[in-house]
Amino acid sequence: MSAMKTHTRIARVGIDAEALRHNLQRVRAFSPNSKVIAVIKANAYGHGVQIAANALSDADAFALATPNEAIFLRQLGVSKPLIVLQGFLTIEELIALADLNIQPVIHQSEQIDLLEQCSDVKLNVWLKIDTGMHRLGMSLKVAESSCHRLQVCTSVSEVRLMSHFANADEPDHPMNYEQWSAFSHLHETFKQVEASMANSAALITMPNSHLQWVRPGIMLYGSSPLKNKTASELDLKPVMQFESKLLAVQSLKQGDKIGYGSTWQCPEDMKVGVVAAGYADGYPRHARTGTPVWINNSLCPLLGRVSMDSLCVDLRGVDAKINERVVLWGKELSVDVVAEHAGTIAYELLCHAGAGFMSSVE
Ligand SMILES: Cc1ncc(COP(=O)(O)O)c(C=O)c1O
Repeated sequence: MSAMKTHTRIARVGIDAEALRHNLQRVRAFSPNSKVIAVIKANAYGHGVQIAANALSDADAFALATPNEAIFLRQLGVSKPLIVLQGFLTIEELIALADLNIQPVIHQSEQIDLLEQCSDVKLNVWLKIDTGMHRLGMSLKVAESSCHRLQVCTSVSEVRLMSHFANADEPDHPMNYEQWSAFSHLHETFKQVEASMANSAALITMPNSHLQWVRPGIMLYGSSPLKNKTASELDLKPVMQFESKLLAVQSLKQGDKIGYGSTWQCPEDMKVGVVAAGYADGYPRHARTGTPVWINNSLCPLLGRVSMDSLCVDLRGVDAKINERVVLWGKELSVDVVAEHAGTIAYELLCHAGAGFMSSVE
């Protein structure tokens, strides 16, 4: 057999490392006095963790979701501080993290029990406080005692505090203030302890929440973390370029119906393009009719249901030929716009489109 084909699909994802570096500079501009934990969990939101770690080498630390994500990054030779947001579940995982100098987030008392049992490890930890999101974190009731427990635990070198906003994408949401005031109140008791709360949205809209460490994710990838501001208004550059080709151009008649379920009917005789991208490529199946697709400097509305390997677009008034370049999202069309039309968020689209494409990234 000749050379193996690594690209089995027509749709492609490309990653702009320069845009990642630019977006990190934007983080620095918004929070000049804080250290930056670049959140590169879930394969850097679909962008490829190795590419992201290289491009973001100026960050002060990286955050991953799971122990294995962090261990993988160490095995790739990344020596920067690594933080595991979900912490560890077992003593074996705790030892593996300690061996590689990886910092777990401690969010439940069972993890402190394990640290206390494990006398021959030494590691830095982050104590996560639940200030209102009710996902992971110690309740405010036990926050102080948990912090004291960790401070005297012989397997812990340094304890830091963290919490997470549930509504920072809506700057006027009352929960933002409630969560921040609960966390800053606790931090008053532990003034010497470093702390982190701000994700991308809070980093931009709540400068008082920056503390010693900020934790941006989505803004690094060039998507807006705010409902009321676009990425370009925030001078964030798109990192993922999701492209494909025009497979076919159909000349259809008035009344012809398009795709599964025949949900869209041609109002007149018209040209319809078939693009080689579908939900198998990470394009959202729930994108509605009208979702823009960029072809030859025009935004062509999506028509009917997205299929596994293809989708149809309205080519009325557009000069487009077979094999023409198509942009699903990227520089010509923001992923935030597509997410809005699909009733989801850019985070999900980026993770999905990136998942199948790691071999196609140069
Ligand atoms: C604990 C934690 N911190 C920070 C982030 C980064 O958030 P964002 O991508 O909104 O900046 C996340 C992302 O989900 C997170 O779970």
